[in-house]
Amino acid sequence: MTLQEKIERLTKELDELQPKTLKEVEELRIHFLSRKGEIADLFEEFKKLAPEEKRSLGAVVNRVKQIATERIEQLRNELKEEKEVSHEDLTRTSDALPMGSRHPLSIVEEEVVAIFTKLGFSIARGPEIEDDYHLFSALNFPPDHPARDMQDTFFIEQNPAVLLRTHTSSVQIRIMEQTAPPIRVICPGRVYRNEAISARAHCFFHQVEALYVDKQVSFQDLRELLLFFAREFFGPDSKIRLRPSYFPFTEPSAEMDVSCNICHGKGCALCKQTGWVEILGCGMVDPNVLKNCGIDPEIYSGYALGMGIERMANLKYRCNDLRRFSENDIRFLSQFEGEH
Ligand code: DAH
Repeated sequence: MTLQEKIERLTKELDELQPKTLKEVEELRIHFLSRKGEIADLFEEFKKLAPEEKRSLGAVVNRVKQIATERIEQLRNELKEEKEVSHEDLTRTSDALPMGSRHPLSIVEEEVVAIFTKLGFSIARGPEIEDDYHLFSALNFPPDHPARDMQDTFFIEQNPAVLLRTHTSSVQIRIMEQTAPPIRVICPGRVYRNEAISARAHCFFHQVEALYVDKQVSFQDLRELLLFFAREFFGPDSKIRLRPSYFPFTEPSAEMDVSCNICHGKGCALCKQTGWVEILGCGMVDPNVLKNCGIDPEIYSGYALGMGIERMANLKYRCNDLRRFSENDIRFLSQFEGEH
């Protein structure tokens, strides 16, 4: 085959190429254009020609190389485009979006709140940044109470004190200042305490406060409410017990334990072998607190209670490290997918 004939064959071949994939295009590029490919062979042969033949064929040989390069490039572009177009199938259904999950503290907070709203309580919220009056004085805290110390409470400013609330009881005051009885509110929210962070303590956590003020509210009403709440949240077999306690803003005050829902009273690690777990603080609103809010304690009485959401979540989900709740670790949070 003469060089002239080879050139014709190559040109025809190049024209008729029909690769189906980008991989095939690459194979063709190697076949034609690599150092040992067809075009390189052509140049080898061209070198051997007599000078006058070189003159007449030089331009043609160079032209074949150009045609081959352009053709391969063109084929590659066509297949690339086709690939992109085929991805844009507008009729295909979209990929499934990864499902998020609700935060365990939100789940528990809402569950607690829902039990109270069923009983006619309405939701109230107050500010996280508080003054001394609403956080301590109006709640009957004595002037030298340790909570008023910077060791226990975060101060934003000292004189006059601007602080981060240490409990949601301050919302009681804000509500009673603004509303005439009957009052029936449930106040969820975040609180802050100056604590070193560990598995068992954190510098912020969440509480739910409940307040009921009306004529003739009694301790027995409080007891009934607590039993109802415990049975709704922990199950119908739950028992409660009240232990005398002290809070400046309630008199009498109590702490409520619920029968351990793991060992059912037999004794286990969670309840420290007692069969009971502590859940919340409560009591009858101190007459001084009512007075501070312009409510006559001769006519009205009330009860209040406060509980920690993290504690309830720990009991429900057996999570033993408080820090998990605020780390935003997807491996922890995704375990709550599908929980309401
Ligand atoms: N404020 C209390 C605390 O943070 C909890 C509490 C106890 C709230 C008794 C109340 C109550 O309303 O009556 O520890």
